[in-house]
Amino acid sequence: MGARHRTAAAPPGMPVSRWPVLALQAAFLVSFVTCNDAPPVPGDQLHIDRTSVPELCPRSVKEGDFVRYHYHGTFPDGTKFDSSYDRGTTYNVFVGKGQTIAGMDKALIGMCVNERRLVKIPPSLAYGSEGMAGVIPPDAVLHFDVLLLDIWNPEDKMEIKTYYKPENCARTVQVSDFIRYHYNGTLLDGTLFDSSHQYGKTYNIVLGSGQVIMGMDIGLQDMCVGEKRTVFIPPHLGYGEAGVEGEVPGSAVLIFNIELLELIPGLPDGYMFVWNGDVSPNLFEEIDKDQNGEIFLQEFTEYINAQVESGKGQLAPGFDPAKIIENMFKNQDRNEDGKITEAEFKLKDQEDKERHDEL
Ligand SMILES: *[C@@H]1O[C@H](CO)[C@@H](O)[C@H](O)[C@H]1NC(C)=O
Repeated sequence: MGARHRTAAAPPGMPVSRWPVLALQAAFLVSFVTCNDAPPVPGDQLHIDRTSVPELCPRSVKEGDFVRYHYHGTFPDGTKFDSSYDRGTTYNVFVGKGQTIAGMDKALIGMCVNERRLVKIPPSLAYGSEGMAGVIPPDAVLHFDVLLLDIWNPEDKMEIKTYYKPENCARTVQVSDFIRYHYNGTLLDGTLFDSSHQYGKTYNIVLGSGQVIMGMDIGLQDMCVGEKRTVFIPPHLGYGEAGVEGEVPGSAVLIFNIELLELIPGLPDGYMFVWNGDVSPNLFEEIDKDQNGEIFLQEFTEYINAQVESGKGQLAPGFDPAKIIENMFKNQDRNEDGKITEAEFKLKDQEDKERHDEL
């Protein structure tokens, strides 16, 4: 006899169920029988009762998916033998790979996130006639109240859904741009784990500079100011197996609703300062305001800031200007004595013809 699916109560000829009342009351019952030629033995079947099915089910569990679920395990008399709730963490497995008992591997198939199933597993699909020392007696039927919280598959890619796009969009977000955005981060089961709104201000980053998880760096790309999107991030582009202590469980899919509020175009890749026009031929003299032949950090900083303020130069947005300027200064101060001489300046200039963040 092969596997059999049905959506009604016991068909004719079905052996007397060990749970006749439940079987009749079940709104939806699926029975799996292992493939063998002998007639089914009472209590040797897997019973699945979908006790709570969410309205929306964009995806259901397939073999090979990774799932996170909670369960409460009891014997038919109601005695608890194990519960993930007691441990405070979900049980996580790849489905259909023997990482859990055979009955559970089957029972998880087809489940939606936030679906709840009452699963009754015969010993042949659980711990058999041996049981499990000290926990499961021989030939035990196991009942599991299962709640599915998360599904993903190693093949999953990022998914980006734009639900509002403004008509005017001169430039979209590129790597190195400085952006300000709001976000709500939830898990697949709807749990909110983080939101910029709770801090009362936007989240600000330079895109592609490693300030956020990889999935977010990807998810924000090409957004317009004013655009709103939902980004689905598989764990390997999110917080991975570790998660974030107390906030995000390990191996969790992340959903971010994002609204981009501001974009300041970044400098070309690798540049921290650029001139908008031609560079003065008497640069050293101009910076060396007191004309003593040495440029100190303060003179240097004042000069660069003046260039930025007058629109002649630009610093990379999203970084501390003082830090950038100090780095530029140190690059010129070859002997690290805290001042730049004209000789150092010239030498550096020739040496760095190919470099970007120099004067
Ligand atoms: C986040 O959720 C709050 C409350 O539902 C909502 O007002 C806000 O617009 C959301 N933010 C984003 C960026 O979706």
